[in-house]
Amino acid sequence: MDALELLKTRRSIVSEFLGPPGPDATQLAEILTAAVRVPDHGKLAPWRFIVFQGEAREQAGEALAALFAAKNPDATEKQLADERIRLAKAPVVVGVVSTAAPHPKIPEFEQLLSAANAAMLMVLAAHALGFAAHWVTGWIAYDADAGRVLGLKPGERFVGFVHIGTSTVPAVDRPRPSLDDVVTYWQPRDKPAD
Ligand SMILES: Cc1cc2nc3c(=O)[nH]c(=O)nc-3n(C[C@H](O)[C@H](O)[C@H](O)COP(=O)(O)O)c2cc1C
Repeated sequence: MDALELLKTRRSIVSEFLGPPGPDATQLAEILTAAVRVPDHGKLAPWRFIVFQGEAREQAGEALAALFAAKNPDATEKQLADERIRLAKAPVVVGVVSTAAPHPKIPEFEQLLSAANAAMLMVLAAHALGFAAHWVTGWIAYDADAGRVLGLKPGERFVGFVHIGTSTVPAVDRPRPSLDDVVTYWQPRDKPAD
């Protein structure tokens, strides 16, 4: 596919509708190789990736369900079942971790943006290989205990979980923002009066 066409046709497929096949080892390496080419001020590589595939997805889900039950004593069986499959819906899930840390020159904000863009490159590379993807966060991206369960080190955070697989539903796009609504062309008159 032409590169611009690729960018213009990408759309998410929600994780519930991402079935097999997922990327094999070679394809996953291609996707991750695209991700590490992300713009990176200071060349800090302020990110890393945690891959959930095969049985590890259910094992992580068991650990998350146990954590959810401990935090929510009134959790229903349905909620616990949802936690068990949280990372097991798509064949492959990549946890994108920001390792942003104080740096004398590079703001942590920029390091975080680099991690987010690595996730975006993953989504695009998956699309280029004919897969569909869904970038998801949810409580596990914000809960420190869930982070520990999923392998975060102190100071790290998830920018999301990129679910990758094959769409089981017809792709239907959503309306996209009109450029007229989001683009302006700066004029000197836009400058605040002194
Ligand atoms: C940082 C971030 C977190 C997101 N978290 C979720 C999420 O937890 N659940 C969800 O359904 N979509 C989430 N999304 C949105 C989807 O990835 C996706 O963009 C959305 O379904 C719209 O589809 P589109 O990519 O085709 O525009 C998130 C997107 C971003 C950038």
